[in-house]
Amino acid sequence: MARIAVYITGSIAAYKAVEVVRALQHRGHDVRVIETKSAQQLVGAATLASLTKHPVMTDLWQPSRNGQVPHIELADWTQLAVVVPASADFIAKMANGLADDPASTTLLATAAPKMVFPAMNNHMLANPSTQRNLRQLVDDGVAVIEPAEGLLAEGYSGKGRLPEVPAVVEQIQEKAEQLLHHGELADTNFVITVGGTQEPLDPVRFIGNRSSGKMGVAIARAALSYGAKVTLIAGNVSVSLPKSVHCHLVRVQTTEEMARAVQNSFATADVLIMAAAVADFKPRHSASHKVKKQKGRQDYQFDLVPTEDILKMAGKMKKRQLVIGFAAETDDLLQNAQRKLEQKNADMIVANDVSKAGIGFASDDNQVTILQRDADPLNWPKQSKQAVANQLMALIINKIKEGW
Ligand code: CTP
Repeated sequence: MARIAVYITGSIAAYKAVEVVRALQHRGHDVRVIETKSAQQLVGAATLASLTKHPVMTDLWQPSRNGQVPHIELADWTQLAVVVPASADFIAKMANGLADDPASTTLLATAAPKMVFPAMNNHMLANPSTQRNLRQLVDDGVAVIEPAEGLLAEGYSGKGRLPEVPAVVEQIQEKAEQLLHHGELADTNFVITVGGTQEPLDPVRFIGNRSSGKMGVAIARAALSYGAKVTLIAGNVSVSLPKSVHCHLVRVQTTEEMARAVQNSFATADVLIMAAAVADFKPRHSASHKVKKQKGRQDYQFDLVPTEDILKMAGKMKKRQLVIGFAAETDDLLQNAQRKLEQKNADMIVANDVSKAGIGFASDDNQVTILQRDADPLNWPKQSKQAVANQLMALIINKIKEGW
């Protein structure tokens, strides 16, 4: 059971927050509500107060518990703060650290993890300032949950809806469980590689790949949320990287640099997760000057040589480490993934079919099959990459407990 502060702000989806509050209570959580002025126009504080058996915070000067300053008492009580729904205005306040009403003041005073469920008109959501504010929240370590597409209150369709109540509750529940189990990986060192490697052809060109780093970064965030120490070895990524005192970031470009970084951190690692998309070949020579077009020359050939297989190297070096690889396949998913498990001496392979629409590189969702030694494959449903990462972390925690 967690102590959850639900912040309801001025979005028409506020009425759904009542059901969210109710469902969280059904799951055994202690819930207190904070409403902005506009939210009070949409849902009465009296309803929420009688459901939660706690006064709703609407006024900084309302009578306090045990003589404490009310917003500080509530901020300190909070184990998880959830803004649902989050209006564009409230998101802007959060992104800028404003504290000009009871809700923003209490949230600013809260040290607990924060989740934000934006819900607004699609044009408001797409506005560059809202997008900038949301990116700022992600950079500040706030979990921002993607709004859904569908019919908006305005009567037309677009992206900006609050996801359905069961989905909202599921996400909050997952976060609450992580918090309650925080510390389960406190003595565990993870080495996680993310993104794509780039092999230079000359000072301006390289051979690269489509990896965004989303899956690997989601895994790193999941490990950090359970209290693990993470060495994050990042190639080229298009997502923001976690900022945490427990996350040691090593930036690399080539496979060789990534291999060296893994080698340097592997001896003290408990778990290695090779989520990076690593180049299998690199140019034999990288020109020191830009390769120029030559008159009359129609074709160019590059001589490629194999790179080091980092996962295989780790599979050979491992002593007590749990070594996990990925298999991105377009054909014969299970056979290829099984072969990688054996040939690379990995303990687990996360296999995904990158030819399927909506679950490949750069997308927000993934559908994976987990292959392990001496266990049947686990087929997980299509879900967000963060949900895959959280489920993977729960599996790793179980394996650690069993002493793999
Ligand atoms: N990998 C690695 N070093 C390489 C190539 C791949 O460590 N030089 C790792 C990847 O990070 C991933 C796993 O091996 O965890 C499988 O990568 P994948 O690209 O799917 O397979 P390959 O081994 O490259 O085999 P193929 O290209 O034949 O599919």
